[in-house]
Amino acid sequence: MINVAIDGPSGAGKSSICTEAARRLGFVHVDTGALYRSIAYSAIKSGTDTNDEDSLRTLLASAKIELKFENNEQCVILNGENINDKIRTEEVSLKASDVSKIPMVRAFLLDLQRELAANGNILMDGRDIGTVVLPDADVKIFLTASPEKRAERRYNQLLEKGEETEYNNVLDKLIKRDYQDSHREIAPLKPSEDSILVDTSELSFEESVNRIVEIIEEKL
Ligand code: DC
Repeated sequence: MINVAIDGPSGAGKSSICTEAARRLGFVHVDTGALYRSIAYSAIKSGTDTNDEDSLRTLLASAKIELKFENNEQCVILNGENINDKIRTEEVSLKASDVSKIPMVRAFLLDLQRELAANGNILMDGRDIGTVVLPDADVKIFLTASPEKRAERRYNQLLEKGEETEYNNVLDKLIKRDYQDSHREIAPLKPSEDSILVDTSELSFEESVNRIVEIIEEKL
């Protein structure tokens, strides 16, 4: 049973690169950002003030989060509802970054992530997988790219989805989110000492996937 931990900032292409790498290797890909997003979505939908401990506790107590894998695609099921297509908006992204700073939220998701990793050959991506969630992972990779490249990719994705936005706006939000994710008190985004750095700024999607698969295969 192999555990691969892949961490890195938003927009480095982690999700799509990891999905394809896992498919080629026959591993299950767990995208842990979706778990933080599902809590953010739930808070927005219910109008919960996540800074209020009691309200947050009530929200978490009623949040039944499950991950299902269909044709290699991860589906996040929140209280019986598949919310995959509702958690990728800018509003949910910012709220996810906010809730991910809260210790109660991180503790709530920690067990769930470890249970998922115990289920077989897993490639898990996030921010603190190699440092906190799976410190004994067999392979640890830190996947990154320059902020400008990441903003450019995100901007193009938003345009494709028909969302109107400006490049500078996307870049500003990305820098804000990077700052929040890497300066929070618990489990900040940082490469673990034993991780292998992969910078995708100058790599195509195919080249990025090849590099990840190569690193993992070397360790198998
Ligand atoms: O990878 P993503 O953009 O879907 O993640 C959404 C937010 O969740 C991101 O701002 C940081 C947070 N996150 C985290 O703190 N720890 C993880 N393991 C995964 C995501």
